[in-house]
Amino acid sequence: MTGKFITLEGMDGAGKSTHIGNIIEMLESRGHEVISTREPGGTPLGEQLREVILHEKMHAETETLLMFAARREHIACVIAPALARGAYVLSDRFTDATYAYQCGAKGVSASKIELLEQWVQADLQPDITLLFDVPVEVSIQRLSTARAPDKFERENAEFFTRIRHAYLQRAIENPVRFRIIDADNPLEIVKKSVEDIILTI
Ligand code: TMP
Repeated sequence: MTGKFITLEGMDGAGKSTHIGNIIEMLESRGHEVISTREPGGTPLGEQLREVILHEKMHAETETLLMFAARREHIACVIAPALARGAYVLSDRFTDATYAYQCGAKGVSASKIELLEQWVQADLQPDITLLFDVPVEVSIQRLSTARAPDKFERENAEFFTRIRHAYLQRAIENPVRFRIIDADNPLEIVKKSVEDIILTI
């Protein structure tokens, strides 16, 4: 018995986290066990690493290695056991974020990330990835009214443009797995797009 691995991705401010509760409800109402988790984080050690990653200045490759260290723990302790017992795992970000942020925005080479991905994940990949896409100006506007920003959220428009481009490129390269959601629409319309996708899973 294997479950399904669903990931949510998008720039900071794209609004993905708003939809988690509704997705959980939809899947649970169909009788599935749902594990809702996030990256970086998802385990006690991963959450400690998250604090360091989000708030300490460091070399982009150090950041990449810490992301994958947290991910190794996350897969071993949470994701793999849940999938093995048939649960649905819903993760707020996963490896596509490393390609978008550390590779796309910060210039870490894709081949180094691929090596770590192969080491840490073997053949584990999400079954479905919901990419919440918004124009950069919208993301920046939303962040300006949000809680105190972490180090990623304080970056400039150019940085966010590179992230958006990298995510859309990942979606083009993985058309079966990715679903792009136009998250610039009013909340009710975005919610309906998410529901339509979840109904097909
Ligand atoms: P969150 O605010 O969506 O929880 O994500 C935390 C931040 O971590 C967000 O700015 C994106 C960043 N991040 C990376 O840079 N690389 C990664 O691999 C992951 C999972 C997150």
